[in-house]
Amino acid sequence: MLQENLIQDISVVDDLDEARLTGVETPGHRSVYLETYGCQMNVSDSEIVASVLRDGGYGLTHDPDKADVILLNTCAIRDNAEQKVRHRLSALRAQKLKNRPDLTLGVLGCMAERLRTKLLDEEKLVDIVVGPDAYRDLPNLLFRADESGQAAVNVQLSREETYADIAPVRYDSNGVSAFVSIMRGCDNMCSFCVVPFTRGRERSRPVASIVDECATLFETGYREVTVLGQNVNSYRDESNGSLVSFPELLTRISAVSPELRIRYSTSHPKDCSDELLHVHRENENVCNYIHLPVQHGNSEMLQRMRRTYSRDEYLELIDRVKSIVPGVALSTDIIAGFCDESPDEHSDTLSLMEQVEYDHAYMFMYSERPGTYAQRKYVDNIPHDVKKKRLAEIIELQGEISRRRNHNEIGNTHRVLIEGTSRKSEERLRGRTDTNKTVIFDRANLQKGEYVDVLITDSTSATLFGSVIV
Ligand code: SAH
Ligand code: SF4
Ligand code: F3S
Repeated sequence: MLQENLIQDISVVDDLDEARLTGVETPGHRSVYLETYGCQMNVSDSEIVASVLRDGGYGLTHDPDKADVILLNTCAIRDNAEQKVRHRLSALRAQKLKNRPDLTLGVLGCMAERLRTKLLDEEKLVDIVVGPDAYRDLPNLLFRADESGQAAVNVQLSREETYADIAPVRYDSNGVSAFVSIMRGCDNMCSFCVVPFTRGRERSRPVASIVDECATLFETGYREVTVLGQNVNSYRDESNGSLVSFPELLTRISAVSPELRIRYSTSHPKDCSDELLHVHRENENVCNYIHLPVQHGNSEMLQRMRRTYSRDEYLELIDRVKSIVPGVALSTDIIAGFCDESPDEHSDTLSLMEQVEYDHAYMFMYSERPGTYAQRKYVDNIPHDVKKKRLAEIIELQGEISRRRNHNEIGNTHRVLIEGTSRKSEERLRGRTDTNKTVIFDRANLQKGEYVDVLITDSTSATLFGSVIV
């Protein structure tokens, strides 16, 4: 369900901002309801938060009306992501004032880090504010807020924290695919992006704890892991004396079992190496799918965005990817209407999309973020309706490309990992190909967690349909 929202739904532009609700009940002296906004990192962090709270004696509930504590794990990437949280907080605060005086409200994650005490001082919306590196402190902060009735805050960022020793509680999992966080923070400073300010400096989690977590997941029935970081290519662990880089980490995870599929997100194009591409080529279970966010198709815009590659360099990389990893599927992130974008520069984005032929894209309208280089040095001068029109053109083009790419799959056979039931019919199953495309097919006697070969017989821009080969 989560992964579908994040990875498959091409029609939803801001799908990263959709709220996700918890699905586990555990007893405890006070019960917590946890609601997650934002990217996969936040989904993974909420699993850490659930673990910390459970160990701190708190129960977890999936019913917000029954909760003693409601925590929103938030996103600050675009203004609309923050507005969504503000609306939700206002509604919850109104409930609290009206008839739930004992309800504790908390904001976690990137918005907490960005706004710090502002949410307490100016807006008086919440009781606790906790940044992404301070989750170990949650039971203590909740206790303080509950005992004293005073707001409690910890937004300290860390250079070391990776939560490596905390076993995530997979409360909203399909039991087949899981996220595994391998690093935190980002040192890249793209000019439009708030993440380096909300997540702090890059740091990698020790390799042994990652491989152990993947092995445990496999033993408990999981068949796919997506390893997460803002820029996984800069993963480096020297805790055991010698350097383990990202390609080496993937190779070690791939050795857990040939039946465990591995994906990752996100890789920055500037350091996607041939060594990494060869890991895809040589390891059957490292999936033939790469998310390579381009952001824009024009070199000057890329320079203004501080992406550190040009259009030509990106296209050369794509050629290398396609030749080293045959049959690879590609996805990307694109921003429309960044500062000073001319009509011609916008057209360069469209032509790059045609050239690469992405299977999928996440497409966004530029949203100025306070404190970023772009906010300080450039003017957000593309009118909203122009941004909107350019984004609509980008979405329409990607729709056509995805439709074409998926149509070309008809007649091909793919190995599909079954993840659950189709949303539209209990009689049909849903899974994904190695190339990350959703496939729907008849149930027969098959179970979630099994691999099956499926002949593709039909397609739309978002989904493939097929029949199981027995
Ligand atoms: N670390 C990842 C991206 C994380 S944010 C990477 O570098 O690939 C996910 C996406 O949100 C970005 O790739 C970008 O396309 C988009 N984004 C980030 N800041 C934005 C902003 N200010 N306005 C609009 N979109 C933004
Ligand atoms: Fe943001 Fe750039 Fe870091 Fe991605 S690489 S999180 S876009 S600063
Ligand atoms: Fe949002 Fe923070 Fe992720 S800003 S996109 S939740 S890293």
